[in-house]
Amino acid sequence: MSDAYPALTSPFTLAGNRLRNRVVHASMTTRMGENTRVTPRLIQYHANRAQGGAALIITEPLSMARHQNIPYKVRVWNDEQIDGLKRWTAAVQAYDCHLLGQIQDSGRGRHAAGRNPDAVGASALPDDISWTMPHVLSVAEIEHMIDDFAQSSRRLQRCGFSGVEISAGHGHLFHQFFSPRSNTRTDRYGGDWQGRTRFVTELAAAIRAACGSDFIIGIKLPGNDGAPESIGPAESATIARLVTSEHNIDYVCFAHGTHAQSLELHVPDGNGPRAPYVTLMLELRAAVNNVPVVALGRITDPAEADAIIARGDAELIAMGRTLVCDPAWLAKAERNRAHDIRYCVSCNSCWDMTSTQHLQIACDNNPRVALADEVDWWPARAANRKRVVVVGTGVAGMEATWVAAARGHKVTTFGIPSQVGGKTRLRSLLPGGEALSSVYDYQQAAAHKAGARFELGVQATADDILALKPDAVVLACGSTMVAPRWLPPECADLVSDLRIAIADLIRVNTRQSGTAVIFDMDHTDGTYAAAELLRTLFDRVIIMTPRDSIAQDMAMVTRQGILRRMHEQRIEMLLHAEPVWTGRVEDGYLDYANIYTHERSTIDHLAFLAYSTPRAPNIALLDPLRAAGVDVHLVGDCKVARGVMAATAEGHTVGNAI
Ligand SMILES: Cc1cc2nc3c(=O)[nH]c(=O)nc-3n(C[C@H](O)[C@H](O)[C@H](O)COP(=O)(O)O)c2cc1C
Repeated sequence: MSDAYPALTSPFTLAGNRLRNRVVHASMTTRMGENTRVTPRLIQYHANRAQGGAALIITEPLSMARHQNIPYKVRVWNDEQIDGLKRWTAAVQAYDCHLLGQIQDSGRGRHAAGRNPDAVGASALPDDISWTMPHVLSVAEIEHMIDDFAQSSRRLQRCGFSGVEISAGHGHLFHQFFSPRSNTRTDRYGGDWQGRTRFVTELAAAIRAACGSDFIIGIKLPGNDGAPESIGPAESATIARLVTSEHNIDYVCFAHGTHAQSLELHVPDGNGPRAPYVTLMLELRAAVNNVPVVALGRITDPAEADAIIARGDAELIAMGRTLVCDPAWLAKAERNRAHDIRYCVSCNSCWDMTSTQHLQIACDNNPRVALADEVDWWPARAANRKRVVVVGTGVAGMEATWVAAARGHKVTTFGIPSQVGGKTRLRSLLPGGEALSSVYDYQQAAAHKAGARFELGVQATADDILALKPDAVVLACGSTMVAPRWLPPECADLVSDLRIAIADLIRVNTRQSGTAVIFDMDHTDGTYAAAELLRTLFDRVIIMTPRDSIAQDMAMVTRQGILRRMHEQRIEMLLHAEPVWTGRVEDGYLDYANIYTHERSTIDHLAFLAYSTPRAPNIALLDPLRAAGVDVHLVGDCKVARGVMAATAEGHTVGNAI
């Protein structure tokens, strides 16, 4: 137990297994398995979280039943991976941490384009997002599946796993069996709540029979799934009561959302409160037959987590994104170093990486996910001390600054604004962006600690830079939105880019009558956060885009939230449209045309017009510096305009390479 967070760091016993503290790593799909095999990277990812303090880690879903053959999911339904599974548990146990394997099947749920022809489900009813029609499981198939899951659990136990977690929330197969929206069966696995929970109660009983009483069986249940005629708090309580009544479940955790327009609820972002599900969890706690409860959902701060345990609201705290972002979250907290934590900013880029881009998990605020030295990383000193100049104090420049300075280089960083953070700072001032400040706050504190020198409020020229006789220069000057084609160059002064316009509005912050229009060729979340701010200042807000929807470059969970807020706030979306320059903007009219039919219309009472368009890199300093023979590195938007993840990753790499 630590003096810093005594409740959070106190031990707990779960099904006879001693946990050294209350921190659980929630199941997170990393996609680090390959060809159904355990990989060194998958092991390293989990060993790092164990080393950093987690007492219990839930793996991502494993292939536990014979019909499950997804390459990045580790195969457990035969003995092929016995050695790998043993290495995995040994690596985690070396840090006094327990590993649980997750049992999950997506059923009919699919959150990517297209339908899943291999899906299985409770009834012949389509998934709400992909409209996948599942093959309806027969009673015999359900029984086989239960047997497979139980045998695989036993195999996990032989390999050192302390238990399993049944993933019965998030809209996956077991959740589909619970919900009357997806289960209209009339046999023993449907009909009423007893029937609809039977698949899971029989599964838990089968695992218990195969693995005994000291094998942890946890369950993730739907709290409020947010879909019509599905599972709200009352239904959730009924499910929780039935599922825990036979005493085969050792902990319960409530997840939210489902495979529908409420999928976003399972990864709450900065547009809602912190720890948003604790209140509902407290209500549901009464229904779990005294089984320990695990709090979950956007818990990012050790003080918050400690208070939940200290109040007795939950026995354990599960964190997914928080521990992706900083595996040493607890180790730092318990040594009174919470200020050194790289905090999760709930941006859901990790979800985008795994679910949209089908890549391994990565993080905006942790450029070292799953590297061997990830835990509490601080760079080793460089062999030769160099003079390094960084130009730009956005998150790419700040990351390069602190890493290079921490390696012992003499770093001078120039920034035009008086404060660091660049466009990320602007985003942090818009609705839903507050948490993003953690990215540059950490970088700034680390840079100061490492002795970097800042020249803020200065637009550095090539001469200013060369005067410092740098051995290397990092250009992190960001990017600038290009004027759209419909805006004649001679009228460019009449319409500004959204970032400049919004920064001005934030300064002035006065209510204005009329209509605000954003021309959107950006499709990332900052544009819609700006629209929300405009909605507080103007009578009417319109987002006009040539595409067939907005927010197309965001992960589905983020896009759902954006669309929900646009509709709730009556922010209008004008699709397949583009302005036509007729010179009437100054008179308060914006003419525009449908991009297919070229049919024209007009928006009147125009009071604000800005464009959010692709960004060109700001590289004016590149040629003069190269001509002077300087070793120049481009990072972040200055290389190619992208998001925070690319910026921090590149700043980090360059800071290490110089
Ligand atoms: C990238 C990503 C992958 C996830 N993968 C899984 C998964 O495979 N199984 C699961 O039960 N939950 C998964 N989740 C949900 C998390 O376990 C957790 O319920 C959710 O992220 C909320 O907790 P947090 O706010 O601490 O991240 C995933 C979430 C994210 C962001």
